[in-house]
Amino acid sequence: PLVNAAELVKAAHKGHYCIGAFNTNNLEWTRAILAGAQELNVPVIIQTSMGAAKYMGGYEFCQTMIEATVKAMGITVPVVIHLDHGNYEAAKEAIAAGYNSVMFDGHDLDFEDNLEKTKEIVKLAHAKGISVEAEVGSIGGEEDGVIGEGELADVEEAKTLAATGIDFLAAGIGNIHGQYPDNWKGLHFDRLQELNDAVKMPLVLHGGSGIPQEQVQKAITMGISKLNINTECQLAFAKATREYIEAGKDQQGKGFDPRKMLKPGTDAITDTFKEITGWIGNKPVK
Ligand code: G3H
Ligand code: ZN
Repeated sequence: PLVNAAELVKAAHKGHYCIGAFNTNNLEWTRAILAGAQELNVPVIIQTSMGAAKYMGGYEFCQTMIEATVKAMGITVPVVIHLDHGNYEAAKEAIAAGYNSVMFDGHDLDFEDNLEKTKEIVKLAHAKGISVEAEVGSIGGEEDGVIGEGELADVEEAKTLAATGIDFLAAGIGNIHGQYPDNWKGLHFDRLQELNDAVKMPLVLHGGSGIPQEQVQKAITMGISKLNINTECQLAFAKATREYIEAGKDQQGKGFDPRKMLKPGTDAITDTFKEITGWIGNKPVK
């Protein structure tokens, strides 16, 4: 069933575990993620960036496609369709399209503007039972054209944003989208502790791909309740697809059957989902 993310993420925060939020790009990715969640019997957040939604044909298309896939696959675990890093217009469009959850990412606005727009999105979303994620500070690197400086979240600003009624908060704590550079300093645990003490609400760790497991697990004990993963699935998909083609295995399908060519990559996404879900401790549903 489709649900909003509020209760799931709050339960994870209380229980010191974490729900994986995986980005999708198309039908295969959606199926791969849902298959992993169903196999492990865990709740899952499937998210689309603005770029991925545009690629797939818009928010209504994404919502309809994911909902139809959930139904057709007979998925019984809770599934959230979430907008990842939406600007103001995108958040409103995703709400209108029937997403269960939206992130309004106002990191590039003045804080006052971020605050005002977050309040408006909370009002619109909550009226329809849709959960809301906001962002304070910024995530370094780039994801689908969303660029951040990696500015650490300010504790007072975090408190102010948390008071708008949002359901969970993404905070910059040294995390970066995409691959981590060799000289990366690691997560800022002191700031995470201060934020968790100050806001007392579920926190979201973006840029989840490539952070050492021990750091993510430590962060989970300190309030991180939603872990965003995108790049890791892209790497797994690309590697499996490349190996399949380079090994000449596609020749059996005469080299051009898309259903055969997409299978190794799709399976690799399911494997990646299962592996990460295992070590972040996402709890099976009863
Ligand atoms: O919003 C999505 C995530 O923050 C993904 O980050 O590509 O580094 O896993 P990642
Ligand atoms: Zn992100």
